[in-house]
Amino acid sequence: MPTALITGASAGLGRALATELATLGWRLVLTARGAERLEQVAADMPTPASVTTIAGDVADPEHRALIVRRIDQLGRLDLLVNNASTLGPTPLRPLAALSPTDMSTVLAVNVIAPFALTAALLPALTAARGVVLDISSDAAVEHYPDWGGYGASKAALDHLTLTFGAENLDLACYAVDPGDMQTGMQQAAFPGEDISDRRLPSAVVPALLELITSRPPSGRYRADDVTGAVDRGIGAAVTA
Ligand SMILES: NC(=O)c1ccc[n+]([C@@H]2O[C@H](COP(=O)([O-])OP(=O)(O)OC[C@H]3O[C@@H](n4cnc5c(N)ncnc54)[C@H](OP(=O)(O)O)[C@@H]3O)[C@@H](O)[C@H]2O)c1
Repeated sequence: MPTALITGASAGLGRALATELATLGWRLVLTARGAERLEQVAADMPTPASVTTIAGDVADPEHRALIVRRIDQLGRLDLLVNNASTLGPTPLRPLAALSPTDMSTVLAVNVIAPFALTAALLPALTAARGVVLDISSDAAVEHYPDWGGYGASKAALDHLTLTFGAENLDLACYAVDPGDMQTGMQQAAFPGEDISDRRLPSAVVPALLELITSRPPSGRYRADDVTGAVDRGIGAAVTA
């Protein structure tokens, strides 16, 4: 049974992708910090018996070790989705207003955790000729005021993703900019703003599935550019 690990799977894009993969018959290992919401999401899956939940913070090395142990027990990993992420302190603020501790936290979640999980899971992923899907952002390549901490972390994530791809030719490694979505993270970035013009996270899932199944060369992709896969009807004109 194809097996996927998805971080940040209790909401937003991670949850939408997990639900679709469960429908397609994948076995899932899901993680997020909040145990209650994660358990509920797993219970709501089309095939709850094929879902393992491990609640914890991806920035915590002990939590990552638990995840890796579980994958070892399952003996197979076809897909790693590094999706959990933080904006850092909100409201978003200029770089000069970020403390080194703020920056360390952003890097721990958005860079160190995906790096460490990917490195630890390389043997299982290589054995399966698997896929690494790292969820990036347009902030990785654009320079918006107040988005510098998050953007720098996503730029570093892109670099790691593409280098893992160059070093591991049996793997497909994708850094994917999903575009704006109606999620908790988007609302936190735009407090008080009506974000209903952004697309639903489920609208991005077909682009992710297209990458996983058609397996283009490792690299950075915008979900909007993955041919025919994104529902262009909602929020297509919205940037960031
Ligand atoms: N939404 C957008 O418009 C947008 C645009 C560009 C890129 N992205 C990227 O898309 C990805 C998904 O974002 P989203 O908008 O779907 O987010 P979301 O709806 O806020 O969901 C975030 C998920 O990650 C979990 N999470 C957060 N911090 C975590 C941590 N330290 N350890 C483990 N789990 C953690 C959350 O659960 P807990 O809080 O319980 O841990 C939740 O399950 C992110 O990589 C984000 O940077 C989003």
